[in-house]
Amino acid sequence: MGKGFYIGKAVGIVGIILCAGALATIIALSVVYSQEKTKSNNQVSPTAGGTTANPPVTPSPSNEPWDKYRLPKTLVPDHYNVTLWPRLTLNTTTGLYIFTGESSVEFKCAEETDLILIHSNKLNYTKLENDHLARLTSVNSGDKAPSIKYSWLQGVTQYLVLQLNGKLVKDHRYHLDTEFTGELADDLGGFYRSEYQEDGITKVVATTQMQPTDARKAFPCFDEPAMKAIFYITLIHNHGTVALSNGEVKESSNVTIEGHNVQKTTFEPTEKMSTYLLAFIVSDFAFINNTIDGVLIRIFAKKSAIAAGQGEYALNKTGPILKFFERYYNSRYPLPKSDQIALPDFNAGAMENWGLITYRETALLYDEKFSSNSNKQRIATIIAHELAHMWFGNLVTVKWWNDLWLNEGFASYVEYLGAHEAEPDWNVKDLIVLSDVHRVFAVDALASSHPLSSREEDIQKPAQISELFDAISYSKGASVLRMLSDFLTEEAFTEGLQTYLKRFAFGNAVYTDLWDHLQMAVIAHGINLPDTVKNIMNTWVLQMGFPVVTINTTTGVVSQEHFLLDPDSEVTAVSPFNYEWIVPIKWMKTGFIQEPQWLRSKSATIIEMKAPLTDWVLANLDVVGYYRVNYDQGNWNRLVDHLKNNHKLIPVINRAQLVDDAFNLARAKIIPTELALDTTKYLNQERDYMPWESALSNLDFFYLMFDRSEVYGPMQNYLRNQVTPLFDYYKNMTDDWSKVPDGHMDQYNQVNAISMACRTDLEECLLLSKTWFNQWRTTSENKIHPNLRSTVYCNAIAAGGAQEWEFAWTEFQNTTIAIEADKLRFSLACTKQPWLLNRYLEYTLIPGMIRKQDATSTIVYIANNVVGQSLAWDFVRARWSYIFTEYGGGSFSFSNLINGVTQRFSTEFELQQLEKFKAENSEIGFGSGTLAVDQSIERTISNIKWLTENKENVLNWFNTAL
Ligand code: BES
Ligand code: ZN
Repeated sequence: MGKGFYIGKAVGIVGIILCAGALATIIALSVVYSQEKTKSNNQVSPTAGGTTANPPVTPSPSNEPWDKYRLPKTLVPDHYNVTLWPRLTLNTTTGLYIFTGESSVEFKCAEETDLILIHSNKLNYTKLENDHLARLTSVNSGDKAPSIKYSWLQGVTQYLVLQLNGKLVKDHRYHLDTEFTGELADDLGGFYRSEYQEDGITKVVATTQMQPTDARKAFPCFDEPAMKAIFYITLIHNHGTVALSNGEVKESSNVTIEGHNVQKTTFEPTEKMSTYLLAFIVSDFAFINNTIDGVLIRIFAKKSAIAAGQGEYALNKTGPILKFFERYYNSRYPLPKSDQIALPDFNAGAMENWGLITYRETALLYDEKFSSNSNKQRIATIIAHELAHMWFGNLVTVKWWNDLWLNEGFASYVEYLGAHEAEPDWNVKDLIVLSDVHRVFAVDALASSHPLSSREEDIQKPAQISELFDAISYSKGASVLRMLSDFLTEEAFTEGLQTYLKRFAFGNAVYTDLWDHLQMAVIAHGINLPDTVKNIMNTWVLQMGFPVVTINTTTGVVSQEHFLLDPDSEVTAVSPFNYEWIVPIKWMKTGFIQEPQWLRSKSATIIEMKAPLTDWVLANLDVVGYYRVNYDQGNWNRLVDHLKNNHKLIPVINRAQLVDDAFNLARAKIIPTELALDTTKYLNQERDYMPWESALSNLDFFYLMFDRSEVYGPMQNYLRNQVTPLFDYYKNMTDDWSKVPDGHMDQYNQVNAISMACRTDLEECLLLSKTWFNQWRTTSENKIHPNLRSTVYCNAIAAGGAQEWEFAWTEFQNTTIAIEADKLRFSLACTKQPWLLNRYLEYTLIPGMIRKQDATSTIVYIANNVVGQSLAWDFVRARWSYIFTEYGGGSFSFSNLINGVTQRFSTEFELQQLEKFKAENSEIGFGSGTLAVDQSIERTISNIKWLTENKENVLNWFNTAL
C-alpha cells in the first residue's frame, strides 16, 4: 500500500483510495511533476515521494516494445474493476483538482511474455509491494505470478511498463492492480472538469471524453478499440451529486472513507466493449425520462436547463429515432438504458459513449425562446448520429483507427435518415448535399487530399489518429456510403448491413467485412452491378479525390477525369486505379428520367442522343453520385436558359448542384468564370433554399477574394439586385417580418434573404437590423425571433460601435443559455472596429471569458470578418506554441483554425507568411492541423493564380450584368 494512502472499507476486489488533507499537497504536486516529466519525454516517472525501481536505460531512439505505439498481442483483457473518486473542490494549497483511483484488470496471456505494457497517461501511481507501480497476481489456482523486476512509465508512448522476473504462461489469467491519482484538469480530455455558474455559485462537473486515446488518462488500460472487455465501474462522490456511467446503477450506498461521508455508486457490468466508449460523470444535474419498449431514456442537464424544459425536445425525439434504428439495423438496442447529457464544457459536438452519450449544451438542449430552426435540426441530427453509433461503432467496432472513416462516415450518412424520422416534414435528407457532399468536394479537390482508407501501419501516434477526424472521414465517408446505398437499393444495403452487425456483434471488423456482407445481399437480391461491391468501392475508398464526368451531348460520349481545383497542382500520390472510378450515372433528358448507366473506363459512349439538340441533359440526379458534372457548351447554354425560363423543371437539388458545379469547374479552369456567374442570373426568380445556399457559399469565395478590391462595388450592386426580390418575398410572406415562415427550408432561406440583403447594404435591411437590436438594447426586451438573431445581431454590431459591442458582450456574459451565448459569440466577431476585434482575440485565450471549447471557432469567426482577417492571422502565428500546448486536446480544432485563418489568402506575401509559419513551427508541430497547413498553402497558391486570371473578366461581368 502506498505511502499516504490507505484502503478504506474494502468491498469486493476494489477498495477506495483516500488522500488525507495534508497529503493532498504531495499528491497534487506529484501529478504536476509527473506531467512535466511526461512532457519532457522522460522515460521514468517516479511516484510520489520516492524513487521507483530502475528501468533499463535504452539508447534513444530505440526499438523496444515500449517505444512502439501499438500494443503487442501478448495480453488480452477480460474485465476491469475500476473505482474512481473525482474531487469537485479545489485543493487550495495546490490550486489543483484531482481524482484518485484504483483499478484491477484481469487479462489472459495469449503468448508467453515477461513484459506487461498497459496504456497510462498523466497518471501518478502509488507504490505497492516492493516499491513497484502495480501488483501482479495469478488467477489460476496454484499458480504464482512472476514478480516484477522493473516498473516505470513510458511518457512518449503512454505506457505503464512492467518487466517481470519470469514469464507469464500462455492461456493463464492474471490480475494487475494499481492505485493512482490524476489531475481533474479543464483540458476536455480523459477524466476532466467542467464548470458553470448556477444560483450565483460555481459548480463543478467531473466528466470524460475518452475517444480516441484518453481512457488511459483516467485509468491504466489496454486502450485500443479491439481490446474489448467488460467493465465493473464504481464511482465515489458526494451526497447530493449524481454518478453516471455506461451501465445502470447496481447499488448506491453511504460509506465513510477516511472521515468523509460519501456516496459509493456501483454500476452493472458493461457489455463487452472498447475503452474509448467508456464514460464516468459526477454532477448535481437533474433529468427527465421516459421508457420506450423497456429501454429507459433519460436527458440530463444542469438543473436550470431541465427546469426550463430544455431537455424535452431531445427526450421526445430520442425514442422514435432509437426505434427507427432498431428497424433499420433489424437489431434491438443492445442496452437497458440510454442516457444523454448536456455538458457546459465539451470539445466535440457529441460523443457516442455506449449508454451515456455526452453533448455540448447547444447540441442537446432546445428552447423555443432561444433556439433557431437550425439549432433544432442540429439537435435532431446529432442525436441520430450518436444513436446510430450505438450499433455501428459500439456493438461492432472497427479493428483499428485507420478504418475510422467507416464509423464516422456511416453515422454521418444515417444521421439524416434518423433525423428524417424525427422530423418528416423537413426534407432534411436533401441537405446532405450541401452539408457533406459540397463541403467535402472543396477539400477533396486538392492535390494534398488523401484517400478515405489509411493503412493500419500509417496510423500510430495519438495525433495521427486525431487527424483522421476530418471532413474526408465524415463527409466523404457519408457521401460514398449514400451513393452505395443508392446503387445497391436500400433493401440490399440494409440487409447486408444487418447480417454484418449480427456477425460481428460485440467484436471488431474491418471495412472490407462490410463489403463482403453487402456482396452477399447483392447476390441474394439479384442486383445487377458492373463489378463486385468491393471492386466498385475500392475506386472510391483507396484513391483520393473524385472525378469530373463530362457529358458531350453532341456525341453521347461520357468521360471522366480527376477533378482538381487547381489544374496545375502536382498530384504526387500514386493511385492504384490511375484516378479512374467506377461511376454510377443517373440522368435525365429534358425533364425525363433515363435508364441509369455506369461509366467504367476513361470514356465511353453511354448516353443516347438524338439530333437535333434542343433537349437538355442533366446528370447526377439528386447528387447521389460523388462527382461533378461538366457538359459541352451547347448543353450548358440550354441548362442556363432553362434556369432562367423554367427553373422548376430542374429538381431543386440539381439546381443547387448546377451552381456549385459551374463555380467549381470555373475555378478549375474547365469552363469560363462568366458561365459560372451566368448560373446566378436566374436567382432573382429563385425562392428555394438549396440553390440560394449553394450560390451564396460559392459567392462567399468571391467575397473572400474581392472584398478588398475594386470588384467589390459592382459585385455588391449586382448581388443586391438579385437578392432584393427574395427579401421582398419573405417580407410579404411574414407580414412585414411579424410571422415565421411555415416550412423548414423557407425559414432557412428567410435568414439567407436577410443576411444577403444586409451584406449588400440594402438600406431597408440594415435599418431593420439596427432598429430591432436597438429596441432590445434600450428596452431590455429581445423581440428578435431566434431564427434571425445571429444575422440581426451580426448586422447591427457591424453597423454599430463600442456601445453595441459592449451591450452584446454583457449579454453574452450574463446569459445562462448556451445557444444564446453562441449567437452572441458569433456576432461579436462582426464589428468593423479593429481595436474591438483585437481585444476580442485576446479574450479567446482566457478561459474565464471564452470557454476553451469555443476558442478556436471564435478566432475563425474573427478571421471571417474582412477587418479581422489579418488580426486573427497575426494573433495565431504569434501565439502558435501557446495555443498548441494549451489547447492541444482538441481534435477538430487545429485544422479548422488553420484553414479558417488562412481562407482569404490570395497574395504572394500571404503565401510567404504561411510558408514561414510552417517552417518556423516545424519543431512544435501542428498536431491534428498538419494536413491543414499543406492544404492552406495549396489553396493560397491556387487563389493567387485565380485572382490574376479572373479579376478583370469578373469585374467586367459584374459591370455589365445589370
Ligand atoms: N465520435 C464523435 C466525437 C468525437 C470527435 C470524438 C472527434 C473524438 C474526436 C461523434 O460521434 C461525432 O462524430 N460527433 C460529431 C457530431 C456529428 C453530428 C457530426 C461532432 O462532435 O461534431
Ligand atoms: Zn460520430
